[in-house]
Amino acid sequence: MTVRRAFEKDIPALAAIEAAWPGYPAWGEKGLREELAKPSSVTLVAEQDGAPAGFINFWIVRPEAQINSLAVSSAFIRRGAARALLNKCAEYARKSACTSITLEVGENNSPARTLYAAEGFEVEGRRPKFYDNAEDALLMRKALPSGENK
Ligand SMILES: CC(C)(COP(=O)(O)OP(=O)(O)OC[C@H]1O[C@@H](n2cnc3c(N)ncnc32)[C@H](O)[C@@H]1OP(=O)(O)O)[C@@H](O)C(=O)NCCC(=O)NCCS
Repeated sequence: MTVRRAFEKDIPALAAIEAAWPGYPAWGEKGLREELAKPSSVTLVAEQDGAPAGFINFWIVRPEAQINSLAVSSAFIRRGAARALLNKCAEYARKSACTSITLEVGENNSPARTLYAAEGFEVEGRRPKFYDNAEDALLMRKALPSGENK
């Protein structure tokens, strides 16, 4: 699994990955394209044998990096794509002088919650009825070691 920056040519594949998850707050091609154009927004793609397996989007809003989207194709789940994307996000954030990474996750999204807990994120708050279906969101944060902030 390799991770690289996303390009314009990736957008249809990334939109298909997010759209395949029922209830996922997908951006669609237009929204993804807008993110590629924002200076503080970073979109990374995980690739397996040249095929896009998943993607992550985050904003660098120092001193935090804020994860906005993370989705993996159902054809590639449980093969380490999300972990690889989170690791690359953390590396990018540290190099950008961020001291923590934040995200919101649906309270009932146990695959994602298990993933984030395994990767060192801790729950620090709750946003009641954050999603359209009235599900609460949990706010999670991972501290980045200060020695690695440069
Ligand atoms: C959540 C999601 C991103 C995980 O992607 P993934 O590439 O399958 O995850 P990984 O293979 O990197 O898994 C890493 C670890 O996360 C945990 N994990 C991932 N999926 C899991 C599941 N379905 N059940 C339990 N634990 C899970 C495990 O600890 C796993 O490690 P292991 O396989 O060694 O046991 C993927 O299921 C997805 O795209 N879901 C729909 C979109 C979504 O909910 N995104 C999160 C929005 S906040």
